[in-house]
Amino acid sequence: MRDDLETILFHEQTIHSRLDELAAQITEDYRGKELTVIAVLNGSLMFMADLLRRIPLPLKLDCLRVASYHGGIASSGTVTFHQLAMPDIDNRDVLILDDILDSGRTLDAICGRLRSERNPRSLRICVLLEKKVARSKELTADYVGFEIGNEFVVGYGLDYGEHYRNLPFIGVLREGVVDA
Ligand code: IMP
Ligand code: MG
Repeated sequence: MRDDLETILFHEQTIHSRLDELAAQITEDYRGKELTVIAVLNGSLMFMADLLRRIPLPLKLDCLRVASYHGGIASSGTVTFHQLAMPDIDNRDVLILDDILDSGRTLDAICGRLRSERNPRSLRICVLLEKKVARSKELTADYVGFEIGNEFVVGYGLDYGEHYRNLPFIGVLREGVVDA
């Protein structure tokens, strides 16, 4: 799998050090509150597991499964929800975790549904990566691990056609590997 990568952008240790900082900030911001985390599957799995173990606050965890890609490297533009009902987050302080903020369509659709069907006290977004691109949705993340350029990355939860999620680091795929 390593041979399929052009470069490694963030090594395991770099990711973990940044998670220490992010977790410290979140812990500070939510101290005294009852946090409810909603992780967006599958991409945020590694991020969620490593981040939450660094947050020593009482919290509830829920997951949402959505798909916006269908195998390639370009978002399909439609966001499909894999569950009928949204988690019960009425009057709760909610933090949504996702792997990456790209066009913003996925998180916009999730926040839209949560806000229209539920009544959270607060709703914030935490992403491991944020692409510095023109977003099709006006959306900003409250917590960001790393900013990257407009390149397709895999590893540490991020996939290309469901592969590479188990790489412990994040890298850019070689051109020949992507058949876009
Ligand atoms: P958005 O809806 O365009 O913001 O895309 C968000 C979703 O697209 C993420 O949750 C990822 O699953 C996927 N995605 C966007 N960019 C990348 C990438 O560079 N590598 C892998 N997945 C990506
Ligand atoms: Mg994906």
